[in-house]
Amino acid sequence: MDSIHIYGGIPLSGEVRVQGSKNAVLPILAAAVLVDGVVTLTNCPRIADVECMVRLLTSVGCHVQWENGQIRIDARGAFGDSLPAEYVTQMRCSVIMMGAVLGRNKKISINYPGGCVIGKRPIDMHLQAFARMGVSLTEKNNILTACTENLCGSDVSLPFPSVGATENTILAGVLAKGETIIRGGAMEPEIQALCQFLVRAGADIRRDEKEGTLRIRGVERLHSCTYDIPFDRIVAGTYLLGCMAAGGSIRLTGVDVSQLTAVMTVIEKMGGRWEYRNGGIVLKAPGRPRAISYLKTEVYPGYPTDLQSQLLAVLALAEGKSVVEESIFENRFRVVPQLNKMGASINIEGSCAVVQGRKDLWGACVTAQELRGGAALCIAALAAKGETYIGNRHFIDRGYEALERDIRSLGGRI
Ligand code: UD1
Repeated sequence: MDSIHIYGGIPLSGEVRVQGSKNAVLPILAAAVLVDGVVTLTNCPRIADVECMVRLLTSVGCHVQWENGQIRIDARGAFGDSLPAEYVTQMRCSVIMMGAVLGRNKKISINYPGGCVIGKRPIDMHLQAFARMGVSLTEKNNILTACTENLCGSDVSLPFPSVGATENTILAGVLAKGETIIRGGAMEPEIQALCQFLVRAGADIRRDEKEGTLRIRGVERLHSCTYDIPFDRIVAGTYLLGCMAAGGSIRLTGVDVSQLTAVMTVIEKMGGRWEYRNGGIVLKAPGRPRAISYLKTEVYPGYPTDLQSQLLAVLALAEGKSVVEESIFENRFRVVPQLNKMGASINIEGSCAVVQGRKDLWGACVTAQELRGGAALCIAALAAKGETYIGNRHFIDRGYEALERDIRSLGGRI
């Protein structure tokens, strides 16, 4: 059944260990293509996007075994240089395979990637970085071919700290000849995880905090290694915001609160009280959240765009008026009409959502339009009076390993 059914209005109470990070594991899986050996990744979430990435790895010749939370990738036979359209168009992150396959085989053909419909999402910065590293690019019938005689390290300045473009440049630079310097790259924790993994496999990557650069010196080969995927900060934020909307008190374990600074600040402003002890966050929600006069989504360490929709669901119930500006993706308010169906009062004014908080939301039949908007509907449903049916759950399954199990552990009725 492609739907979720939630009976809301019950304060949350319980504990969950947060799953491994989707946005960390996907580029690390791609990076495994560069390794002349066997990579073992632990704490991998069982989600649709990871399944899709595993299929892409297999399609270029990797041998992949996935048991419980552990994925083992043997890339010694990874000589393929084209990716099947069927999987590439399912997921935006498939573009990350470009840097890895180029680094390994000097050529890749790929359809334009798909993914959540949250904006235009071009890949111009990825392609400009490759071009600077000696890659020639051609396009025919919507298939992009990138090839090079020799990848050479280069000075790459990104006009915006794109997460994907930074990852692709790192992947292309790891086995390139000479040094690649990335200026203005993204600094999200998922980028740090990718670098940690690559360094463990023998890469030479240094981050200069003062300069704001990443320096990658090409090495001859990468070797076998094991890496534990860090927690998913967006899943953690979703459950914390779920508690802020529904009320009650929850504990999340396996988290590093230093990656959630902007989120915890917003939670405090809304009246949530929390403490962090032994890798666990305990949150106590207020009776009714306070409004946030103005908040803008930003690149890390700012408030993440991936938690913007979920925040709208909380603010829909807050005391007072809130304004949330989306600065990363232009089409990220698709959840608003669905939240309004549940009694929310949210108006879109350009890049801002203006939220007039209401005392109650009501159960309704709503439809997820994309991953994080779908998670926001679950949050609204947990707080709403009565029953909510959320259609298109497959979007939510792209990022949440076991939403039902987790919500039940937190005392929700799902
Ligand atoms: C990644 C995350 C996604 C998150 C986003 C921003 C993964 C798998 N996905 O997506 O969950 O919401 O970071 O934190 O890690 N842009 C261009 N040209 C480019 C590349 C990007 O204009 O070549 C624009 C995009 O359209 C967007 C902005 O830059 O407006 C940010 O995109 P980017 O940081 O690249 O996001 P993704 O890597 O796609």
